[in-house]
Amino acid sequence: MAQINENFIKIPATYLFSEIAKRVSQHKEQHPEASIIRMGIGDVSLPLPDASVDALIKAAEEQRSESTFRGYGPEQGYSFLREAIVENDFTSKGIHVEIDEVFVSDGAKSDTGNIGDIFDFNNRVAITDPSYPVYVDTNAMAGRAGEPTKTGEWTNLIYLACNEANGFVPELPIEVVDLVYLCYPNNPTGTTLTKEQLTVWVDYARENQVIILFDAAYEAFITEDNVPHSIYEIEGAREVAIEFRSFSKTAGFTGTRCGYTVVPKELMGYSENGDPVSINKLWNRRQCTKFNGTSYVVQRAAEATYSQEGKKQVKALIDFYTENARIIREGLIKAGYTIYGGVNAPYVWAKAPKGMTSWGYFDYLLNEKNIVTTPGAGFGASGEGYVRFSAFGSRENTIEAMKRLEI
Ligand code: MLT
Repeated sequence: MAQINENFIKIPATYLFSEIAKRVSQHKEQHPEASIIRMGIGDVSLPLPDASVDALIKAAEEQRSESTFRGYGPEQGYSFLREAIVENDFTSKGIHVEIDEVFVSDGAKSDTGNIGDIFDFNNRVAITDPSYPVYVDTNAMAGRAGEPTKTGEWTNLIYLACNEANGFVPELPIEVVDLVYLCYPNNPTGTTLTKEQLTVWVDYARENQVIILFDAAYEAFITEDNVPHSIYEIEGAREVAIEFRSFSKTAGFTGTRCGYTVVPKELMGYSENGDPVSINKLWNRRQCTKFNGTSYVVQRAAEATYSQEGKKQVKALIDFYTENARIIREGLIKAGYTIYGGVNAPYVWAKAPKGMTSWGYFDYLLNEKNIVTTPGAGFGASGEGYVRFSAFGSRENTIEAMKRLEI
């Protein structure tokens, strides 16, 4: 008799965004005439940059001929892409990252979910609340989160509340912690940490042998100067942090799939008897065993985002969504909402009108306005009473949605 991993029974039956998709398709079935505006999941609406499409086609053509055909690639990614990443995302910005510290993957979702493989079951994990549900769900699947409580929290996770009272800046945990997930610019609140605020976390991690799992999937949307794009801008971070990056939101790769993870060679975990062990080596071992590399054509498409043309096209995408975020922010303020985020991030975090729950307000917006959002409670208890608006839609839909919300 094959026994299942019981932890899968403990987690909510559906993943947050699958639940939303289900509710939206039910609504569509009941109201086929409804013109639905999707501002829920952060899926992009603009196509890939031309430079990436050209590179995809060229790479696909190479697959026709024996002399240029590629079979298995390096599990860590081709050096052409790893070199382009290091040069453009780090070296040119004065940040020290080496090529063998970069692991190319099929996206930050997989990497932030899979990273738990290399950490012991007994590690104490801290998670900002609200947060991207993958961090919680994957720790729950591994049994590291303990048991779910009636309110949906997990007994062994340490929740770092991010709310209006603390300006969405998580406080250092009082409990002993081994791993901390930080996502900045933040999904879902769209808020950020300044260099000084992130330094507090890096110093804390260095003093307490904590590893920070830093999700920087939205760094391209930063507009303000004092907001770090990479945790490695902070002194000492190479000793304590893994950073996750994505081409999804930056260059429209949500369907094409490419991301990467940086694991500095200074970063150590500890064996049972306290010996330091290279996390870079463990992650490399994990990837070589469980992953056969991102496809060659996709890596060429990602590489093309760093060409001169590619950079211009990527900038145009980011500018477009940033302008959407501005329209949403201004539209919501005009409609009387209290809002956060949207300045350095493609998400705007809006307080539901008085007394309404996140899901209640989500349903109201869907049923009455045909607007899909993401209920804040889906990201954690501290998200209750909020909904998240995504700026990744078309301009027309973004403007129309704000019109529908006008008082
Ligand atoms: C989100 O909407 O939070 C993201 O698009 C989900 C993801 O990147 O997987």
